[in-house]
Amino acid sequence: MDINLIKKEALDEISQTTNDLKDLERWFKKYLGKKGKITLFLRTLKDMPNDKKILVGKEANEVKKILNKILEKRKTQLNKSIQVKTSSKEWIDVTAPGILSPQGSHHPISLVRQEIEEIFQSMGFSVTDGPEIETEYYNFDALNVPKDHPARDVWDTFWIKEKNNISDYKKLKNKLLLRTHTSPVQIRHMKTHNPPLRIIAPGRCFRHEATDASHDVQFHQIEGLMIDKNISLANLKGVLEHFMKRFYGKNIVTRWQPSYFPFVEPGLELLMKCDICKGEKCSTCGDGWIEVIPCGMIHPNVFKSVGYNPKNWQGFAFGMGLDRLVMMKYRINDIRLLYSGDLRFLKQF
Ligand code: PHE
Repeated sequence: MDINLIKKEALDEISQTTNDLKDLERWFKKYLGKKGKITLFLRTLKDMPNDKKILVGKEANEVKKILNKILEKRKTQLNKSIQVKTSSKEWIDVTAPGILSPQGSHHPISLVRQEIEEIFQSMGFSVTDGPEIETEYYNFDALNVPKDHPARDVWDTFWIKEKNNISDYKKLKNKLLLRTHTSPVQIRHMKTHNPPLRIIAPGRCFRHEATDASHDVQFHQIEGLMIDKNISLANLKGVLEHFMKRFYGKNIVTRWQPSYFPFVEPGLELLMKCDICKGEKCSTCGDGWIEVIPCGMIHPNVFKSVGYNPKNWQGFAFGMGLDRLVMMKYRINDIRLLYSGDLRFLKQF
């Protein structure tokens, strides 16, 4: 067979092989392997006359060289394309947007609490707190709440039974309860600090109530206390009206009305014109006004129970319902939403 024919066949074939290592190996075997066409051809040289042998042998070795070169070239091409393929698989697009991990958000009660804390802090008040489980003394006695006050009834307060035997429990001097307001923090703070002082104390409170859109067994209050020499009702009104303007805006309309709490004298209530009906009367406010901050001048008996001399010190206290402020701020119509833990609701803040 003519070496040039073999060469042509081999070149044609390799040009048609895909870039596949197995194809190239098969091609090598067919032409350059031990039983390959070129190898067999070279073996036939020995039967040729000498002069022809030299010429054809030279030619055949040239062809062998060329084919080997081509094979090498194809192999390096193949390797390169394999590298490109694998590296394109591992390619990282650093400009692609990242996968966002789910993020929580602040509870609306926390948001409003923080805002209120900042307003009072700017007026020189510091933030403190107290325990949610209280004794009857701090929650009622020290606050001048009479023994027969209805709030002390089992239907108003969650009492904590220390023993299952009720008659024993009644004998306990300092019964435990879930605090019904944040006012016990006043007592705890006054007992451990000397006047003058300005504090606010946000926290959770509990009352034994039937739940509806505006009542829950748990709610939040922010207690406030300012004690100094020569503090008067004017200071109380000034501080709280300033607070309302900072919190709701300058256009808010407020008014005062007398009220009663055993631990203050006189007792007052700050009301604001309903923001929903603008004072036109609606289902949220009833008569166009919403009570927002119960307050008053601290009762001398409270000062006595903490060891302050009421002749030397005066002060005012207030306790605002945080939940109601949150509901009005975000127009939430059911207090139970605040405690439901429903993510569809909470994710909106
Ligand atoms: N503790 C009172 C309540 O829960 C609110 C209050 C606090 C009133 C301080 C006057 C002064 O209703």
